[in-house]
Amino acid sequence: MTDKEICIIGGGVIGLGIGWQLAKMGVSVTIFERNIVGCGASWAAAGMLAPLAEAHTEEAALLELGCKSLALYPKWVDELEADADMSIGYRVEGTLIVGLDEDDTQQLHHLFDAQQNLGLDVNWLTGRRAREIEPVLSSRVTAAIHCATDYQVDNRLMLMALQRAFQRCGGVLYENTSVEKIVIYNGIAIGAQTKNGIHESDVFVLSAGCWSAQIGGIPDAMCPPVRPVKGQMLALQMEGGISIKTVIRTVRAKYPTSVYLVPREDNRLIVGATSEEMGFDTRLTAGGMFELLRGTWEIVPGIYELPILETWAGLRPGSRDNAPILGKTPIQNLIYATGHYRNGILLTPITAYEIANLIVTGETSHTIELFQLNRFLK
Ligand code: FAD
Ligand code: GLY
Repeated sequence: MTDKEICIIGGGVIGLGIGWQLAKMGVSVTIFERNIVGCGASWAAAGMLAPLAEAHTEEAALLELGCKSLALYPKWVDELEADADMSIGYRVEGTLIVGLDEDDTQQLHHLFDAQQNLGLDVNWLTGRRAREIEPVLSSRVTAAIHCATDYQVDNRLMLMALQRAFQRCGGVLYENTSVEKIVIYNGIAIGAQTKNGIHESDVFVLSAGCWSAQIGGIPDAMCPPVRPVKGQMLALQMEGGISIKTVIRTVRAKYPTSVYLVPREDNRLIVGATSEEMGFDTRLTAGGMFELLRGTWEIVPGIYELPILETWAGLRPGSRDNAPILGKTPIQNLIYATGHYRNGILLTPITAYEIANLIVTGETSHTIELFQLNRFLK
């Protein structure tokens, strides 16, 4: 335990997760959220816990971090559901990655080889075998990879649970309170400037998602290199015999957008996502919606009649190397927990446990050592 006062900037899954873990240990924690909790990427996400499906051979350290975080999920879910007294929709039906033509099958083979070289638990399926798992798949699906251990959680329920657990454990939350600046004196962070004045604390955690580089006071060279990467999404109502249990992703060699379908317990089917470098623009576009619907219809033709329930866009906090920025900075008492890009929901447990541990012990663990800001400062 520590008697330090902790100030967290940003009320997404990352800030709330760290805050909850600290508050649970009896640490005094305040979170400042500029808007309302969960108005950022954490609300917009699909909730896939997919280190295998999104694996890239050149990102081995990130893959390892993702697998470690996935392994923490059962404990995380038990703990969070108990503290918040609600379900967070954790589902373990696995993920299918499907292709539709020769080019897609080639691309799937490359991915499968890479996954096998990394020793991942994946299986190659024929189109027929994939349809035995998900009968609604198109007869055009030629092949699939089954990632049995890639799961999902309902990220909106997780946000709600984190807020509830944080506050029940004694954490203090100020919504509609933007941190305009971190006050730094002689290389030490000493305060967070808000509309209500300067909030003094012993440690500051910057977890403001894709807005992390916009907070004033931090010298340019030490700002987290984080940018917004737009993702458009929509939700369909599964009905009339269209029922899906696993997460389904496509590999489409000839099209700009591959889609993923994430079925929720309440029969919503989340469809995502575009990936666009459009700054902070969150407008939906005809092209974005068209690509998502076209991509979905190709693998599940039965979606044609399904009602559209919702459309939205969110901003992923993308870092320069796609990996999160975690841990100490050259500014004493300022800790970063940002840049989780496409995997922030997956990486929430490991980030929360590791950053809480860093704050309480002062020690940077081997797990997060590689992900510190200093990798960009060399
Ligand atoms: P956010 O949730 O963006 O929270 C940051 C918070 O900081 C916001 O609430 C914001 O208002 C607040 N803030 C900003 N500036 C200030 C300030 N000055 N003062 C106070 N507060 C401030 N990840 C997965 O693992 N699986 C997925 O399936 C997945 N799908 C995704 C799909 C889409 C379309 C998108 C956009 C993202 C997806 N992600 C997914 C990524 C994941 O959502 C993010 O990595 C994660 O939510 C980042 O969490 P965060 O708490 O850092 O950021
Ligand atoms: N991880 C899914 C996305 O970022 O769209």
